[in-house]
Formats: sequence, structure tokens, C-alpha cells
Amino acid sequence: MSYPKTLQFRSPGRINLIGEHTDYNQGYVMPAAIDRAIRFRLESNGLPHLARFRSEDLDASFSANLKNISPGSGWENYLLGVLHQLELRGIAVPGFDCTLESDLPVGAGLSSSAALECGLAWGLNQLYGLGLQPREIIELSQAAEHTYVGTQCGIMDQFACVMGREAHFFLLDCRSLEHRYIPAVLGNYKLLLLNSGVTHSLATSAYNQRREECAEGVALLARRFEGVTSLRDATSAMLREVIPEPEKVIYKRCRYVVEENGRVLEAARALETGQMERLGELLFQTHQGLSELYEVSCEELDFLVEMAKQYPGVAGARMVGGGFGGCSLNLLREEAVPGFKNAMVENYRKAFGKELVPIEVALGQGVSEMSVS
Ligand code: GLA
Repeated sequence: MSYPKTLQFRSPGRINLIGEHTDYNQGYVMPAAIDRAIRFRLESNGLPHLARFRSEDLDASFSANLKNISPGSGWENYLLGVLHQLELRGIAVPGFDCTLESDLPVGAGLSSSAALECGLAWGLNQLYGLGLQPREIIELSQAAEHTYVGTQCGIMDQFACVMGREAHFFLLDCRSLEHRYIPAVLGNYKLLLLNSGVTHSLATSAYNQRREECAEGVALLARRFEGVTSLRDATSAMLREVIPEPEKVIYKRCRYVVEENGRVLEAARALETGQMERLGELLFQTHQGLSELYEVSCEELDFLVEMAKQYPGVAGARMVGGGFGGCSLNLLREEAVPGFKNAMVENYRKAFGKELVPIEVALGQGVSEMSVS
């Protein structure tokens, strides 16, 4: 069989309209791939066991022996983790060269990590006809993040990167992986990201800790209620019965997740029926939950959402992604966009002495080819 020698493709980031920290609790999420992406150039190099990587943005390179994959440092692990997962599945990959260039900001909560992982898995699958199905690409990329990167992430980011559809969100049930595309018809409203520029060095451990806290909650619920295997099976009443003290950390975490699942389903209805104001209210509620109950926001993100609340024409705003920094996502009337951007940049500079970067996003296709030579 002959394979294309060179493959050029884009592997996108994602936003998540609503449904944060629900994916690893077998709940609902509503993400979309975006038009910001990592561009890959992948070609077979004719060498049996050598993979060479180059990041144009970082001006950095490294290589790996495909017969002996072991963890490296930083960004290398997203890629090495994928090679390791292929190896674990007994899938041999001939040598290749991979060059990366990106307009997807790192650490902005837009999932550049999944873009790297899924991009490599998808690209090698295309280049060498590995016969992987989209679902396998998603799962092995997630596994790479668990093992080589160390974040016990859910499945949302990888799913969005592979399955995204232009101009659509999708409602994903993270238990069954059933999903339904919903056209992003926002009427006179626009989505705008504001990148706080904040990144948190402890984000990974704090993320994994949240996951453990949810698991503790599930264990308590399961002791009292038969058949509970995740927070997806819990209601607020069940939770109150099992943990009567509302100030307890485990209660707050679980309450947030249970309420967030309800909000996602309501948001899907609001989007489908064009109720943008209602959708916006749900975004504000999600942020409040993430900030006060799940405690994954930060001062800068709270500030951005608070300011957005006061700005005429803004229907809703919230932090996106794992938290502790990154972007806020704003849903606002089209005519309010220019004034809002200026005001936010100005206020942010005054409050924190830092630059706020507005990003207008469009919803794009999942990982896909640009051209073949
Ligand atoms: C990160 C993880 C996802 C998800 C979000 C929070 O992006 O990779 O799996 O848990 O945080 O919703």
C-alpha cells in the first residue's frame, strides 16, 4: 500500500459553551472545535525508528526512538504520550518528521493539549493507514494525557478536537458518548473570548484533586443509594441526605456538578429555541458555581465576569476549561462587541497592570486535512 508522503492538516482547539468539570463525572458537556488550531506538517522520513519533532513557535526540536518511547519534558510529553499509546496497542509506526505551527494560545483553556495529542494520532493514522477509528483516536489521546502528562482529564477536549463540526456545538453525553450537533445560531449575539494571560502552575494537581473529591462524593452516595456509579446518578436531594453539612468541600464540589448537568440540558434547549438571554444567565450561573463551589476560578477571571455582568448588551460570561486562568467566554450583542473589548482591555490593565487579549472565535471543523503532496 502506498501512503501520502506529506500530510498537512490542522488540529483545532475548543471552547465549551457550558458543562465544565462534568465530563469525568459522566455528565453532559456542550463544546465546539474552533478556528484556532495547531497546523501539522507530517512526512515519512524513510528512517525505520526515528521520529523528529519541531515546534516553530517554541523554536525547539526533539527526536524520539520509536522502539523505545519514554517520557520527556513539557510539550514533548503530549506527543510522546501518543506514541507510547500506539506502542501499547501494538501499532508500529515507521519514522516520520513532524513540524508544528500554531495560532492557538497555550494555557488559555482552549485545549492546545488535546490539539497536539489528537493531531499526532490522527495524522499518523492518515499517513500510515493505521486503521484507527475516530473513537480510538479520542481515547488514546486522552490516555496519553493521563499517563505522560499526568492530568486525569475527561474526554471532552479530545472529543471536540476530533468530532467538531463547523458552526455547530454538540451536546455530548460523556457516559454513553452519544452526541447531537446543535447549530450555533446565535441571532444578533456573538461569542468573544478574553484571554486573561493567567496560567497556574498548580492547575494539574488541583484538577486531579477535584476529580478525587468527586469520587469521594460518589463513594458516599453509593453507600446509601444503590446503583450510583457517578455524580450523573445523583440529585441535589440525594446529596443533601448523604452530606447534610453544606459547607463541606465534598458537598460543594458535588453540588456544583449536579447543578451543572441540569444547566447543560437547559442551555441546549435555550440555544435550540434562540433564547440567548436565558443562555447567558446560565453561563453566569456556571461561573458562580465554578468560582464559589468548585473553586477553580481566580481573581482575574472573577473580575472579567463581574465586569461583563455590568456591561450593557452582555447576556452571559464565564471562565472556560479546567480553570485557574485562561479565558472568559462572553455572549454579547453584536453591536456591543467593539465597545466591550475596549472597556475590558482598559479596565483589566487598570486593575491588574496586565494585557487582556480579546479573541473572536468561529466554530470550526475538527482535525482535518489542508492539502496533500
Ligand atoms: C480540562 C479537561 C477536560 C474537562 C475540562 C473542564 O479541559 O481536559 O476533560 O474536564 O478541563 O471541564
